[in-house]
Parts: sequence; C-alpha cells; structure tokens
Amino acid sequence: MAKEANNPKLKEAFESHLEETKGQKEKLDRVFALLNIKHGNTKCLAMEGLIEEGKDLIDENATPEVKDAGLIAAAQKIEHYEISGYGTVVHYAEKLGHKEIHQLLSEILNEEKRKQTQSLMIWRKKQSIRKQWHNRQCSFKVNDLE
Ligand SMILES: [Fe+2]
Repeated sequence: MAKEANNPKLKEAFESHLEETKGQKEKLDRVFALLNIKHGNTKCLAMEGLIEEGKDLIDENATPEVKDAGLIAAAQKIEHYEISGYGTVVHYAEKLGHKEIHQLLSEILNEEKRKQTQSLMIWRKKQSIRKQWHNRQCSFKVNDLE
C-alpha cells in the first residue's frame, strides 16, 4: 500500500505502520512465549481477503487522489479488523490476570487505534477528493465522515 500511495503523508503513514507491525510481531512472539504456545504459520483468511480487496483497488483506473481514497478505505477495514481482534484478547488477558500479556496486547491495540485515526485525518484533509468522488457519482457520502 505504501508503494501505491500518492499523497506523501499517506505513504509515510503506511511505511511507519509497516515498521510498527514488525515491533508488534515481536510483542506477539513474547505473548506466545509467555503462554508457552507455538504459533506456527497460521494464516488469517479474513485478513487475506481484506488485503486482496486492497490490491484490487490498486488496479483500478482512477486518479491518484481517488486511488489514495480507496487505499485509505482498504486500510480502514484492515485496522478495524485488527482493533476488533486485539480488543478481544486485551479483555481476555485482563480477565485472566495476565498482566504482562495485557500490557503487550494493549500497546498493539493502541498503535492500531492511532493508525486508524491517523489515516482518517489524512482523508479529511484531502478536500479535493470530495469533488472527484462526486464526479464519479460514487454513492459513498464523504460528509458522513465529518
Ligand atoms: Fe494495523
């Protein structure tokens, strides 16, 4: 997504989240170690589907601004999915009294929430996107986000 983003701030946001994701993997490895669980290489089919959806947008014939808007929408879906999953396990870790695991997972959850808010802020600053969405007679109402 970072490679395909046209807006420099959006590109930077995607790149920084990629770095954050590497740190999140280390935190998850620690969580699995604390639980004495081998996580293997299990794939998340839902996440694969969301990523595929984002790839489809990249192939669309659209202006750079509209493509960025599509990338933000795809990223929002991914972040919401992550926030849902991490929110659940943070709650479980707290209820089960796993303080260190709760801390690690809460850090990841907060990073995901921050990223979700950041991409929305970039979206809102792109005033020109509105006209282009309306020109394409898109049924999505940008004003719903404000
Ligand atoms: Fe994320």
